[in-house]
Amino acid sequence: MDQPRWEIQPGRVMLGLENLCPSSQSKATLVYLVEERRADGAAQQRYVLKCAGPAVTGSEKEKVEEALCREASALTRLQGVPRVAQIVDSSAGPHITYVLIKLVEGQDLRVVLDAEQRLGPDQVLTIATELCKTLTIVHGEDILHLDIKPSNILLNYTDYTTVLIDFNVAALDMASSRNSDRPVFFKGRGTAEYVAPEQLLTDKSARLMYSTDLYALAVTVYELLVGRKLFPGRTRKNYASYPVPRREELRETFDQLFPEVSSQALSTLIEGCLRSDLNQRPIESAEAFQSALLAALAPCIVLGEAPSDV
Ligand SMILES: Nc1ncnc2c1ncn2[C@@H]1O[C@H](COP(=O)(O)OP(=O)(O)OP(=O)(O)O)[C@@H](O)[C@H]1O
Ligand SMILES: [Mg+2]
Repeated sequence: MDQPRWEIQPGRVMLGLENLCPSSQSKATLVYLVEERRADGAAQQRYVLKCAGPAVTGSEKEKVEEALCREASALTRLQGVPRVAQIVDSSAGPHITYVLIKLVEGQDLRVVLDAEQRLGPDQVLTIATELCKTLTIVHGEDILHLDIKPSNILLNYTDYTTVLIDFNVAALDMASSRNSDRPVFFKGRGTAEYVAPEQLLTDKSARLMYSTDLYALAVTVYELLVGRKLFPGRTRKNYASYPVPRREELRETFDQLFPEVSSQALSTLIEGCLRSDLNQRPIESAEAFQSALLAALAPCIVLGEAPSDV
């Protein structure tokens, strides 16, 4: 019998799926677009498959595989939750560790922003409202995403809803671990241009809260509205010295771009979410973020076009 061939190359049939092409190539994790074939060869369902890249070996490979398993656990717990990527299958070795996820027909917001520069306040309100509803459920399941950023949010072309993806740095069981003696260690996971200081600046046990995700959501909302990254070029190395804009600076930017929105309410929301001490952040839940954003952007909503509550 032929040995299975585990190298992944375009056109090779793997796990019963035809691999079309790598859809993205990050350093260690590869994301492929794959397509299920019927016996008659006709294409059926399409998926994305995440696995370690072929060049990754040793302890780095172990870390990538650990992250894939973490993602599989989070997505399994979130199965059926609307607007979260839906896991179809996963495996942890011996030949390959992978996560198979339903394809969302659309684009991630990084690609959308690169094409559109920035989005209108009404579009941002719709997208952020959906994300807040999704995060309310995710947090209710005792999961923190910890990597909210435009490339991890997909805009679904079929119904213009958003889908949250990429749970490979997620923290599971945060609330329960806070109430136990079991320390939770975080070693600098997440994207420095977006994530909160408690994720990166603490080398041992770090207390993370829902507001840790809301920090990155605020950075993302700023970028969607303004069309520029809030912290371009911020890295783990320069993180501690990287300046955070004051409320007045944020307000000036919003005033110039959107005379119709409440720049005071918007700058208060964003500045509050960006405070380095998470005990000083006034917005503690995704629901509170959603209400505050609605209050700030409400003046730009055309009557009858408010984001739906579904
Ligand atoms: N379910 C999906 N449907 C459609 N496209 C997807 C899906 N999952 C991922 N993608 C695309 O692949 C890209 C990379 O996927 P993902 O973010 O899960 O992997 P990653 O390697 O961990 O990313 P990074 O390290 O760059 O954050 C996404 O930004 C998105 O464009
Ligand atoms: Mg990603």
